[in-house]
Amino acid sequence: MSEPILTPQSPIIHMDSTPLLEMRGISKRFPGVVALDGVSLSVGRGEVLALCGENGAGKSTLMKILGGIYQPEEGELWVDGKPVKIQDVNDSMRLGIGFIHQELNVLDNLDIAANIFLGREPLVTPFKLIDRKKIHADTAPLLKRLGLDIPSDTLLRNLSIAQQQMVEIAKALSLNARLIIMDEPTSSLTLTETDCLLDLIAGLRAEGVSIVYISHRLGEVSRCADRVVVLRDGKNAGGLDRADINHDNIVAKMVGREIKNTRLASDAPKTPGFLKVRNARSSRYPNQSVSFDAARGEVLGFAGLVGAGRSEIMKALVGLDEQGAAEVTLGNQSLRIRRASDAIDNGIFLVPEDRRGEGLVVGMSVRENTTLPSLATYSTAGIISKARETAITNEQIVSLKIKTPNAESLIRNLSGGNQQKVVIGKWLAMGPKVLILDEPTRGIDVGAKAEIYKLIRTLADNGAVILMISSDMEEVLHVSDRIAVMHEGHITGVLDRPDCDEQNIMQLAVGRTSPVSKPAFVA
Ligand SMILES: Nc1ncnc2c1ncn2[C@@H]1O[C@H](COP(=O)(O)OP(=O)(O)OP(=O)(O)O)[C@@H](O)[C@H]1O
Ligand SMILES: [Mg+2]
Repeated sequence: MSEPILTPQSPIIHMDSTPLLEMRGISKRFPGVVALDGVSLSVGRGEVLALCGENGAGKSTLMKILGGIYQPEEGELWVDGKPVKIQDVNDSMRLGIGFIHQELNVLDNLDIAANIFLGREPLVTPFKLIDRKKIHADTAPLLKRLGLDIPSDTLLRNLSIAQQQMVEIAKALSLNARLIIMDEPTSSLTLTETDCLLDLIAGLRAEGVSIVYISHRLGEVSRCADRVVVLRDGKNAGGLDRADINHDNIVAKMVGREIKNTRLASDAPKTPGFLKVRNARSSRYPNQSVSFDAARGEVLGFAGLVGAGRSEIMKALVGLDEQGAAEVTLGNQSLRIRRASDAIDNGIFLVPEDRRGEGLVVGMSVRENTTLPSLATYSTAGIISKARETAITNEQIVSLKIKTPNAESLIRNLSGGNQQKVVIGKWLAMGPKVLILDEPTRGIDVGAKAEIYKLIRTLADNGAVILMISSDMEEVLHVSDRIAVMHEGHITGVLDRPDCDEQNIMQLAVGRTSPVSKPAFVA
């Protein structure tokens, strides 16, 4: 249990071989679910331990036990070789454990500094007021360390999800934690930001800080982990030492089968110019406009760096941006899209990026969420047939392998990845003409990703237009027929399938032109 962590990657520098943390025989049940069943885990000093497993395997639950959010029914926690009890988040903080939770935990009406020092603000006498000067002064270097060039008095609501996630990371750093739990820290970060975080992890590791790293991006895991521990169905399913860590070995332990990731080719007939978008403008980039064509049966990928304006353009397109506008032609019909319901009536659906905020009602059941946008479809003469709703929902549960006790379970009790599947499922169920997916597989495990890609492809082959925003390079290359690359509010170029590679995308993403790129539409 207490073997020292020797890695080929770098020599051990921390001589004390007692693990910093040991979790022994941890069990946790929820109504209808055994989330954890006798799980053990140890983390050495200065070790980067990756925790892997499919959606619903129990990763977040295990970490929430460390944060005092849940109490286990069985098992023990040991820190520095001594048994400890963690009743609440203060116990956890006192033990030097910092968290970056999977669901963002920020208050969006407060600024960056206030979020970082929330609940432990330094006070100035005599009136015991919050020492704003100090929290801003202390925040600046944290942001700098993360390469975040934003003033510390920016309100959280004015930040992108990626930037909000960086603020959570800054908060964990500010606590001087000895152990930092990162639950999907890069799920909404792009390549550059991810690189920045991985460098930071290497730096923390060298300082002797331990990290538990949870991610479905197995490439990152292979890059940063000293050791991998895999959970399957709430149980330990083995582990890998540094020398054996690679994509295929992790997947084999996670799912016990091989997942093929060959590029999805499409031979289905296409109707070029079926969807025409002209002069789309978002309130974020009012002086830029975007025009493009997409064919029936086509998956048009949208790549670019965070802040390139991809989500904003799509919102304008479906009437979700009040100051935005777009001229949209579908088939030969020009559409008037003023509000979201106009888009939905015309069969144009958007699966948003911020699914907890915009895509789901967490207090409702899986069934209610699946059928929410399409009640008309499931009702006869205004009476909604619950049996019909349940049938549709059960189909989605099976085809997307949504892990839930049943269709009536509350969304908020599903694991992060399974919540995502519900959102995707509800739009797939509606047979869209145009489906816009914004980061469709964020937080979704490798097996389920492959399923979702197949569904996207099938939908396209059956005649839908798919517009897919993705910051996941592998994904955008894997699924797209063509890729439009955006930079600061406009399309820099479109790549045909033979020209789609990482280098060409990056070139256009940073705003340079490329000799191989094509125009986005035919005038
Ligand atoms: N508060 C809760 N009430 C009921 N069930 C829960 C609760 N929290 C988690 N679960 C269930 O426990 C299981 C493990 O969930 P957990 O969130 O730990 O998975 P995970 O490995 O983090 O998955 P993901 O990769 O999707 O984030 C799931 O079946 C989930 O639905
Ligand atoms: Mg989780």
